[in-house]
Amino acid sequence: MEEREISQAVIGRLPRYYRYLRDLKDSGKERISSQELSRIMKVTASQIRQDFNNFGGFGQQGYGYNTKYLYEEIGKILGLDHQHKMVLIGAGNLGQALVNYLGNRQTSFDFICAFDINRQLYEQTIGGIPIRPMEELQSFVDENEVDIAVLTIPKSEVHRVAGFLAGTKIRAIWNFAHVDLELPSHIQVENVHLQDSLMKLSYNIHKNGVSGSPAGSRSGEPAVD
Ligand code: NAI
Repeated sequence: MEEREISQAVIGRLPRYYRYLRDLKDSGKERISSQELSRIMKVTASQIRQDFNNFGGFGQQGYGYNTKYLYEEIGKILGLDHQHKMVLIGAGNLGQALVNYLGNRQTSFDFICAFDINRQLYEQTIGGIPIRPMEELQSFVDENEVDIAVLTIPKSEVHRVAGFLAGTKIRAIWNFAHVDLELPSHIQVENVHLQDSLMKLSYNIHKNGVSGSPAGSRSGEPAVD
């Protein structure tokens, strides 16, 4: 049977369904109708049904979906039933925060090593993982079947490092530097910009003409290097 391409918009909504369903399941809710899910998530029931129909509908019967089943199925679609090995590249402030945050949680993503150019970091560990020189990256990635590289390095370094990674067996890059990376299609890229969300918040504060402190006392722009 020909496999149908699911739109990125639908894929982008799955993590939110997953989060809500996890909370519902954990609170002991066994079944949920699309109407009830729609009310909780503030999206239309028809949107929910359309999204789920991309995956065969998840067998809504009688009065709704089985919450645990739906949660697990969406998890499988997102690939969360697999463990993913990750390396951190750039063990500075953000990198350390990510390892400490994710490392303390039971997720399908495990940081197994960090890499940096700063020699002073090589004696240290973050969240129990070692920090190694960049020269060891290629052999480490190949020998350990690393799936994802997390880039928390300066913007000026990203294209060079990503180009290098494209020549390894790595499957994906989770990029935090403020550059929208585009790489050959065999390597998946997700660019993350936390400040996009902050700028959206700022828009919503100011859209009705209610102003905060005028921009300009500093740069007037968010800090993106
Ligand atoms: P930082 O200066 O604390 O850490 C950067 C680390 O990268 C340092 O340890 C440095 O030695 C290392 N590094 C530099 N060049 C390297 C290379 N070629 N290979 C390996 N390691 C290298 O910086 P911070 O605050 O942790 O920020 C890291 C990056 O994340 C920056 O590009 C920053 O703009 C970005 N950032 C992005 C956010 C987002 O929402 N996407 C939020 C915060 C920071």
